[in-house]
Amino acid sequence: MADSAADLVPSRPSLPKLREAAAGCRACRLWEDATQTVFGAGRRSSVAMFVGEQPGDREDREGAPFVGPAGRLLDEALLLAGIDRRSAYVTNAVKHFKWEPRGKRRIHAKPSWSELAACRPWLEAELAVVRPRVLVCLGATAAQSLLGRRFRVTQQREQWLESDLAEHVTATIHPSSILRQQDDESRHREMEAFVADLKLVASVL
Ligand code: URA
Ligand code: SF4
Repeated sequence: MADSAADLVPSRPSLPKLREAAAGCRACRLWEDATQTVFGAGRRSSVAMFVGEQPGDREDREGAPFVGPAGRLLDEALLLAGIDRRSAYVTNAVKHFKWEPRGKRRIHAKPSWSELAACRPWLEAELAVVRPRVLVCLGATAAQSLLGRRFRVTQQREQWLESDLAEHVTATIHPSSILRQQDDESRHREMEAFVADLKLVASVL
């Protein structure tokens, strides 16, 4: 079996063609336990692209990115930062939900470096078609997949990064990390910092 989706990417891709091709992707083993491929969503004309880690439980069932709890938080933060959700293309570093059973629940499991590498051609193709002016990596997984394994979000957030991927490239935390905070005070503080990062994005839109 191939270990990269590269051979599946159509030669003259459009978003519908990519979505259709990705629906049948089996380039790594993550498709086996997932319901469906969750491709990116948004207009081709989007000026900003937001890249998360991978679909969650809800996204896996619904077939769309950021429609669960993390997505609600992202929507709220975008609104507070003054970014129109309709001008944003949202997608993930990996297109299938990787999970482990815990009782009856399916708990998110971190994709491996080889799974990220296998799936990266889909993300690169989305970037090539949408050509966003601003690229925002949400969390370490997206940042490391796109910017290199040594990337550290905690040290390199809220700034523009050196990268050829788009005119403006930045990385911030993943909204799920806000949900994981233990108390209201830290949740509030993390949310404020997230919104501040997104305001940097809003400043160039
Ligand atoms: N977390 C992500 O990284 N992506 C989603 O689509 C949902 C949750
Ligand atoms: Fe293909 Fe990505 Fe799914 Fe792996 S995770 S099967 S590379 S779409």
